[in-house]
Amino acid sequence: MLKLVTSRLIQQITTRNAISKSNAIIKSKQYNFSKHLSTTLPNLNKEEVEVTFVRANGVRIKTKGNIGDTLLDVVVNNNIDLDGFGACEGTLTCSTCHLIFSKPDFDNLPDKPGDEELDMLDLAYELTDTSRLGCQITLTKELNGLEVRVPATVNDARS
Ligand code: FES
Repeated sequence: MLKLVTSRLIQQITTRNAISKSNAIIKSKQYNFSKHLSTTLPNLNKEEVEVTFVRANGVRIKTKGNIGDTLLDVVVNNNIDLDGFGACEGTLTCSTCHLIFSKPDFDNLPDKPGDEELDMLDLAYELTDTSRLGCQITLTKELNGLEVRVPATVNDARS
C-alpha cells in the first residue's frame, strides 16, 4: 500500500515539474500566440507550388501556395483580391470559390468532386465541364504551375 502511495506521489510530482518547465519555456520565449494564427493547418514541409489565377479580363495573378493548402487558402494567404471569393470560408455552402481548369489540369486533379461539391457547383455561374470549387482542391507537388480561370461573376448560394 505504502509503495503504491509513494509511486503515485512521485508520478504527481513529476507531472507537476513537467508542467512548470513547459510554462517557464513559454514565458522565456515570450510567445505571442496571436501572431501565429493561420487559416491552414501547420505545414511542416513548407514545400511550395506555383499557381496562376487568370481573371475574366485576362489579368494573370501569379502566386505560390504550400502543398496541402487548398486554392481557397492560396487566395486568402496571399491577399488576392477576388470579389466575393470564398464567402463561406470553405464550408461548401456558397459556390463563390468556383474556378475553371484546363482539361488536362482538371483530369490530373488528385480527387474527383463529391456529391456536395457537385450540388454546389450546379449553383455557380458560368459552369463548365472542368469547373471545381477552389476550397475543395488541395495542392500537391504535381499541381506545380497550375493555372485556373476565375469566372467574371460569382453566385453566393447562401443569399
Ligand atoms: S468557399 Fe464556399 S463553397 Fe468554397
